[in-house]
Amino acid sequence: MFDMTEDRIKRLDAEARRILQLNDRAGYTVPTSGLYPYQWNWDSAFAALGFAQFDIDRGWSELETLMAGQWENGMVPHIQFHVDDPGYFPGAGIWGTDDAIGKGPGRVPSSGISQPPVAASFALRCYQLDEGAGLERLRALYPRLAAFHRWFFAHRQTADGAMVVTHPWEAGRDNAPDWDSAMAGITPEGVQPYTRRDTGHVNPAMRPTKDDYDRYIWLVQFGRDRKWDQEKLAAENPFRVADPTMTFTLMRACRDLKIIAEVLGEDQAEISGWIERLESGAASLWNEETGAYDSRNEATGEFNHCVTNASFLCWWAGLRDDRSLTVLNRVLDQVRYGVPSFDPEHEKFDGLRYWRGPVWGIMNMMIATGLKEAGHTVEAERIRAATVALISENGFAEYFDPQDGTPAGGGTFTWTAAIWLGWATPSLEEAE
Ligand code: GLC
Repeated sequence: MFDMTEDRIKRLDAEARRILQLNDRAGYTVPTSGLYPYQWNWDSAFAALGFAQFDIDRGWSELETLMAGQWENGMVPHIQFHVDDPGYFPGAGIWGTDDAIGKGPGRVPSSGISQPPVAASFALRCYQLDEGAGLERLRALYPRLAAFHRWFFAHRQTADGAMVVTHPWEAGRDNAPDWDSAMAGITPEGVQPYTRRDTGHVNPAMRPTKDDYDRYIWLVQFGRDRKWDQEKLAAENPFRVADPTMTFTLMRACRDLKIIAEVLGEDQAEISGWIERLESGAASLWNEETGAYDSRNEATGEFNHCVTNASFLCWWAGLRDDRSLTVLNRVLDQVRYGVPSFDPEHEKFDGLRYWRGPVWGIMNMMIATGLKEAGHTVEAERIRAATVALISENGFAEYFDPQDGTPAGGGTFTWTAAIWLGWATPSLEEAE
């Protein structure tokens, strides 16, 4: 299926390992130096998947440092600022979480929001790949993973059981069009003067606009002014969007946590209840008009009519309803390298701008893995082959233009290297 020599595959595997090592800061991995110089939540969990292929101990330790940054209330923050880097904005001082409600003493400086909870899914993968002390390490992580999931049900649940994000950055899809309606409801008054750093590292045409950025910072100040008190934020934050990324990654993570609980002989009743809630939440995100799962602005109760790569995480979540397959195939037919982050037929599609069109390897990995598990091998293999071509032709960039493969964002990117090693590389085929 893959038109590549063994030598070429070996070189790509070696390059992917080199990137993980290059971004390794002894215990945690940065997504890429310069643009993202700290530990990001879901990036770290993907890094664990990559490391687990060749250094299982390092796979575990990645998850261990990630979960060590957990707040007392269970939240695992989206960024942990281990070593200060003035080249990044907004840093720890802007988030102001030192005296945050629920953080607890002695925690690593961090942001005040979370990110899609994929850690349990890759903890299970590490366990499956480990032939040594895996069980003990899994046992040590288990209560933290469970507390993390519990936090979502306490603070991010809609009345239907879907999960909301309280800041675009919480979804991991920072600049997706899903947030436009809720962002339009914010008047960014009182934003203290700031200097962006992202546009000093990469082309501004690929990054969010100033209007969006003002609102990102306004939301950070909004949380900080309330000491990140989740009760107050739930009542007052104008930005609450029910999100397929959060709902589907948590659903998968709960299913994986349930398997972990079974391995450890722990009670599974609470987790089963969570999965049921999420299934009803997912049902509430189905948009008949777009023929796909959608995000919903909780302030208005209205769908955003966005067909995104998050819409197709339904199979990764373990749902076995195939209503989205038609739209998925339509979207795949529009581009050379699926799955684009936004519908190519939509007027807002932009092949190079952050989460408004480009393709991400991590999303492809989750979508294709889910499709394969659901028996949709044709689509699964199509997405995998496209990802292999994309990376082998264009390198380990942060993301790519789905039409012509132009690499964009940061280079030598951890999660692109990680999904290469843990999913895409043709050498896994030979090992099977
Ligand atoms: C961007 C992405 C986010 C990721 C972070 C670090 O903010 O949108 O998903 O976690 O970069 O790679």
